[in-house]
Amino acid sequence: MDWSDFYVHQAGREVRPTFTAALKAWRDARGEQVGEAVDLGCGDGLETRMLLADGWRVLAVDADQHVVERVTAGTSEAERERLTVRQATYAELVPDGGPVELPAADLVYAGFALPFCTSEVFERLWAGIRASLRPGGVFAGQLFGPKDDFAAWPDTNTHDRADVDRLLSGLEVLRLDEEDKDGTSFAGPKHWHVFHLIARSSP
Ligand SMILES: C[S@@+](CC[C@H](N)C(=O)[O-])C[C@H]1O[C@@H](n2cnc3c(N)ncnc32)[C@H](O)[C@@H]1O
Repeated sequence: MDWSDFYVHQAGREVRPTFTAALKAWRDARGEQVGEAVDLGCGDGLETRMLLADGWRVLAVDADQHVVERVTAGTSEAERERLTVRQATYAELVPDGGPVELPAADLVYAGFALPFCTSEVFERLWAGIRASLRPGGVFAGQLFGPKDDFAAWPDTNTHDRADVDRLLSGLEVLRLDEEDKDGTSFAGPKHWHVFHLIARSSP
């Protein structure tokens, strides 16, 4: 899918609140310690650049063909030394029968990104995310519920509350907010059914 309209619509956006809250949860536990992060479906890379500015090492992944230019825009050479940008689909990260291609991570962030693959790819990707989280590592991101209008798009996945509970089982849930309301998106008026999630693996 072509996300060009999305990037235009998002120009000048604020950092996503769920990301900010996840970083706060990390800092509340670890102070100024920085670690290794994965930003899945990183889009314009705003959250990746914030992590780089704070000293994190980041793997940013997105299928968009211009992801490298988007994410590296405005970064310093020192920041780029801590950055790996990978243009890849989620399916390429979890090839059939192959190992998950995610490094061990202290933070996995997936902002409005994980719903955009098939359910089968999602399950393997989620297993990879869980496996990549180091002890005390934080996951943050969104999943779409079945009432979300984007559920009608091809190759998307949705989850109901029971699914979300299953996916988070064994993690310390720091945020689980369900949003179910009419609103707007880059594609026009839209019904949003979103789970905003922050969860932490056992120390
Ligand atoms: C709604 S945007 C979110 C971008 C960013 N995280 C943000 O919060 O603005 C979804 C992003 O996921 C990427 N994406 C969509 N489907 C993908 C797939 N199957 N594999 C990898 N990236 C994908 C798109 O290119 C897009 O940048």
